[in-house]
Amino acid sequence: MSSHSDNLPDRVLSMHEQAVREMEEPKDGSTATPVAFILMCFFFTAWGGYYIADNPGSWSGQEYNEQPNHTAFSGPAAPTDPMLLGKEIFSACTQCHQSDGKGVAGMYPPLVASEYVTGDERRLAAILVNGINGPLVVNASTYSSEMPNWRSYFNDEELAALMTYIRNTWGNKASPVSKDIVTKVRAELAANANAWTAETLATFTRGEAK
Ligand code: HEC
Repeated sequence: MSSHSDNLPDRVLSMHEQAVREMEEPKDGSTATPVAFILMCFFFTAWGGYYIADNPGSWSGQEYNEQPNHTAFSGPAAPTDPMLLGKEIFSACTQCHQSDGKGVAGMYPPLVASEYVTGDERRLAAILVNGINGPLVVNASTYSSEMPNWRSYFNDEELAALMTYIRNTWGNKASPVSKDIVTKVRAELAANANAWTAETLATFTRGEAK
């Protein structure tokens, strides 16, 4: 071994002693936070609060949206596709008429290929607005049950979309139904909220279908 490497531990030790001597001893406890720093924190917090209160942006997520009309949340509503709206509303009907529109034999009549669905739209609107009870023949089967009315559940646009949907799903093909028809039928039935029977419904239908 060379003398150089024999000296190494000594040299390292003396270097450390020097470093230890020159470094400040760590102190216990901590220095008090400068008052100026505390004041600065208060100032920035207050300023931030003031800034938010002064620029609330209506508390709306759309405030800084440069193209508000391109979102689902604001601006003029895009025209709703009646088939989509109708499909959504139809979830209120599936419990009885089933999602395939075939109903339940002996209990709930089918909407598929039903003359009540694809026929006179004024009659269909009337059924939904007032509900229907008692013996009813649908596709050569007689049902004798009750359907509640839907007059307070859906507005005219929604009922029109629902009718358009059931008239054009599961192979049904019939004209779309306009909102005006529902508005008109509702007005005609303003003073008559009685659930239809097959007979009263036929009278109502004859009353205006010329
Ligand atoms: C609580 C069960 C029930 C619900 C929910 C229901 N219906 Fe009915 N619906 C019936 C019954 C029962 C009849 C037959 C009534 C009768 O026997 O007089 C009927 C009859 C009908 C008819 C006429 C007959 C036919 O099959 O074409 C139409 C149209 C109709 N419902 C559409 C709807 C639509 C649309 C909805 C959803 C808004 C709906 N129903 C929700 C039970 C229901």
